[in-house]
Amino acid sequence: MNIQPPLPKEYQNLPVEQACRRVAQLKTALGQDVRILAHHYQSDEVFQFADFVGDSLKLSQQAAASSARFIVFCGVHFMAESADILTSPQQAVILPDISAGCAMAEMADAADVEEAFEQVQSAAGEMVVPVTYVNSSAATKAFTARAGGACCTSSNARRVFEWALASKLQGGAGGAKVFAIPDRHLGLNTAVAMGFGTEDCLVYDPKLEGGGLEALATRRAKFILWKGQCYVHQRFTTDQIERARSRQPGIRIIVHPECPRAVVAAADYSGSTEQIIQAVNAAPAGGAWAIGTETNMVRRLAANNPDKLVRTLADTPPFCRTMSRVDLPHLLWVLENLSAGKVVNQVRVEEKLSAQARLALERMLAIPPQGGISPSR
Ligand code: 13P
Ligand code: SF4
Repeated sequence: MNIQPPLPKEYQNLPVEQACRRVAQLKTALGQDVRILAHHYQSDEVFQFADFVGDSLKLSQQAAASSARFIVFCGVHFMAESADILTSPQQAVILPDISAGCAMAEMADAADVEEAFEQVQSAAGEMVVPVTYVNSSAATKAFTARAGGACCTSSNARRVFEWALASKLQGGAGGAKVFAIPDRHLGLNTAVAMGFGTEDCLVYDPKLEGGGLEALATRRAKFILWKGQCYVHQRFTTDQIERARSRQPGIRIIVHPECPRAVVAAADYSGSTEQIIQAVNAAPAGGAWAIGTETNMVRRLAANNPDKLVRTLADTPPFCRTMSRVDLPHLLWVLENLSAGKVVNQVRVEEKLSAQARLALERMLAIPPQGGISPSR
């Protein structure tokens, strides 16, 4: 894990208004050379300065299309790494707080994944294709490409799983099974959305010898799911859904597919952050929505849709602690350094790893994206 040293004193107690004024001035002065990308979970203070906002897929596409010399990525480490992989060596990607990691990405060490894949492949006796959620390190993405697999995001996981299982003649990877890394919930929710049952899925626990799997069970399963999860989405429950419906009959519930299977099944829809936002924005006035994802995004969605009732599904609003590390003082600090000709907190993936990881991302980007939110099954 990367450690961010404390910011110089002058940034620590800076009044918000003053910090906002300075960020706005620096953005104007730096012009087209700098582009600020922000994920939907960012606070309003940071989000207001973004040139581009989106979910993981959209931000990867925006980074790939950008020609800016400096990309200031207000997200978490794996997102900045993906941006570095997809941009040219002349561009620099900057993460305002270098210790803003993703707890789930850190649950899948590349060497452990590679060893697990070999075990699963030899027990399966037929071709296994790894599909790695973008919430993963560059090294895990690079392994994925070497093993013939691709990345996915929460907005295209189903399409990528279908690609993994389609024959090579149909343009697929020709796999008989999918090894889904590192989010077991996204893996299971995607398998069920494709019409498979929980009995077709097995969880590989990296803490147990051989993942805790028996060879016969591995041969029978269609999906092997790495035992990783997100602590933010793990907190949503079916009780919360029941309570929301009893308080507000007719309320519609959308959750992120990182939520546990029972929660996605009990909700009305699931989708990526961008898909959730688009669905609520496009809904007719007057409706009520409860959203199962991070709180900054839900609050902003509610503020942008005053003609609807939009609330979080959770009892205690969950924040992504690492995403929140990228705050206004850190944004100001990186911009002031850029304006003084100094690049701080550059995220740089080593060239060989980058070329392999790029392949896994490009295979994903070549697959036509899914539409909007998916109805629950
Ligand atoms: P999205 O791609 O849906 O924005 O999700 C990213 C993420 O980390 C959610 O926890
Ligand atoms: Fe990672 Fe969860 Fe934060 Fe998303 S919400 S960035 S999965 S820790």
